[in-house]
Amino acid sequence: MEENKKKVLSCIQPSGMLTLGNYIGALKNWVAMQSEFDCTYAVADLHAITVRQEPAKFRQQIYSTAALLLALGIDPEKNTMFIQSHVSSHSELAWILSCYTQFGELSRMTQFKDKSAKHADNVNVGLFSYPVLMAADILLYQSDLVPVGADQKQHLEIARDIATRFNHIYGDVFTIPEPYIPKIGARVMSLQDPTKKMSKSDENINSWVAILDSKDDIIRKFKRAVTDSDNRICVGEDKPGVSNLIGIYSAVTGKSAEVITAEFEGKGYGDFKIAVGEAVAEELKPIQERYQTFISDKKQLEDIYRQGDEKAFYAARKTLSKVKKKVGFVL
Ligand code: TYM
Repeated sequence: MEENKKKVLSCIQPSGMLTLGNYIGALKNWVAMQSEFDCTYAVADLHAITVRQEPAKFRQQIYSTAALLLALGIDPEKNTMFIQSHVSSHSELAWILSCYTQFGELSRMTQFKDKSAKHADNVNVGLFSYPVLMAADILLYQSDLVPVGADQKQHLEIARDIATRFNHIYGDVFTIPEPYIPKIGARVMSLQDPTKKMSKSDENINSWVAILDSKDDIIRKFKRAVTDSDNRICVGEDKPGVSNLIGIYSAVTGKSAEVITAEFEGKGYGDFKIAVGEAVAEELKPIQERYQTFISDKKQLEDIYRQGDEKAFYAARKTLSKVKKKVGFVL
């Protein structure tokens, strides 16, 4: 590992099937960044228990998420892929950082407001302090860049604020991280309600596409996608559904919105929606095939993440010791 490479960190929650939104907004960048940066990626199982999980299903989802990251092309030899709860430094640093985070700033987090409205019967303290754990994830690895979708921007800002505050008191302890948000696809919207983010927790399964959906399901979901009544295939503020489909098509084909508009000149929404579905299915097909090989060999999967856990622990321990010393703990 070259010392002068910039450090990248990101995590994903294993809270269900991963979606096309996760893929376009974040995971595509995770893979692309590997060749240039020193990357650390984790399955954020600690974050996922802020909403209730069914244990057997949850365990399966953790395996499945790890297998999917490998299927996407994350290279565990050149980079680090691990499971968050296996590296205890995350919880330890989160506690310390929570003492440098104000109640008021956490209260402003829109994700907390949304999630506590959605899970009104379980507004737990973890849901509230979620961004502090996320700051710990990022700061432990002295990360320069954090590839995420637009919905995580506010959490990145608070991580930067916490790091800046800590450094101000104790000197240069943490690298101040920058978000790395894609220009196209930073916010993939629901196929059924394009004013809402595409999310795996949406009860309407036609509103989101899973990375592991079959070709038939993908095409069916795109065929049903909400558009509008004027039949023009172009981006526009008054055309959220069509704009979203153009964004998705652009992200998977690399074509610009102008090229796409020209390509479908004179054609109807029906043709366009099938083309988007086919392009998405085509992009996901090799990932789905590789996924099968990783998920069917648990032993290999465990070996890979355990090796990652160790690498991550080593890097995390270094930062955590420094923090403890600065705070004044006796080591
Ligand atoms: P999570 O698990 O909800 O999502 C993983 C990544 O996918 C992105 N994403 C989207 N991007 C575009 N359009 C969408 N519809 C869409 N849905 C999800 C998310 O922005 C994210 O990048 N808190 C994080 C996980 C986390 C983390 C971290 C991220 C824990 N620790 C440290 C970065 C650094 C989360 O819940 O992502």
